[in-house]
Amino acid sequence: MKGNILAGGSGTRLYPITLAISKQLMPIYDKPMIYYPLSTLLKIGIKDILIITNPEHIDSFKRLLGDGSQLGIKLTYLAQEKPRGLAEAYILGEEFIQNDSVVMILGDNIFYGSSVDKILPRYKVIEGGVIFGCEVQDPSRYGVVQFDDDFNVLSIEEKPTNPRSNYAIPGLYFFDNRCVEFAKKVKPSTRGELEIVDIHKQYLDIGKLKVDIFDRGTAWLDTGTFESMNEAAQFVEVIEKRQGFKIGCIEEEAYKQGFISKEQLLELAKPLIKSGYGEYLIRIANT
Ligand code: DAU
Repeated sequence: MKGNILAGGSGTRLYPITLAISKQLMPIYDKPMIYYPLSTLLKIGIKDILIITNPEHIDSFKRLLGDGSQLGIKLTYLAQEKPRGLAEAYILGEEFIQNDSVVMILGDNIFYGSSVDKILPRYKVIEGGVIFGCEVQDPSRYGVVQFDDDFNVLSIEEKPTNPRSNYAIPGLYFFDNRCVEFAKKVKPSTRGELEIVDIHKQYLDIGKLKVDIFDRGTAWLDTGTFESMNEAAQFVEVIEKRQGFKIGCIEEEAYKQGFISKEQLLELAKPLIKSGYGEYLIRIANT
């Protein structure tokens, strides 16, 4: 299975901050936003990852993450000329995906909790599509999934005015290779985007869409507005200070997965000593 981080978009809800920098490079407490989704992919054990972003931001992402070899992974970069919608990622990524399945995560989605760690690696090998449901107070802001008692999906809707359930679909999707062909069939919605839910619906039509639920102990945070970014930063700060462990630490995750050795982790710590981040990596290497 390959991985894909969609980290483009216009970022207009964060203007003027995002006039000059990519939203997904903005800080969420002590690290850039993209570290969080990237660490989630590492947690699943994904090593071959495509990062899709705006043409003007590709170099900044490369400066931050390079080719991934320092983390024992392979990073490939691709430009999305315009934010034409989430489903376009699968069309742009066709050459990268080849005959594999792919897990896509949105560059502004943060997941935290033991159930996430347990559930996600289960879908490393899949047939069909797997989406998740997360209970929220304001489902109209998201894709919404309705399901029966046996977790059979009954309906999928994008930002419905009258949601049929309280379960939002977070930006994390596991698809088999059919996603490329399905993405090509998606037509622009009324808001002019190639909607990801129109891929979900095609999996649903062939009886191959599964929904799994993140329980109440799971934190799913999206970071698209000033308020939500601030809240996410506060959440990360509180947990990190209280527990002494970092959330979204890509170096730690790469080490835990065995992608890098203790020596490599210590090497990565060196330039990061002054911020305290490096000291944390040293602690992880020595425990
Ligand atoms: O956060 C989860 C929600 O994400 C899902 O519940 C919805 O079904 C899905 O459509 C999406 O909804 P949003 O309207 O919140 O997506 P947004 O336009 O904010 O884009 C999500 C991220 O993807 C954001 O970081 C920007 C990036 N993006 C977006 C588009 C449309 C791209 O990189 N390229 C794009 O073309």
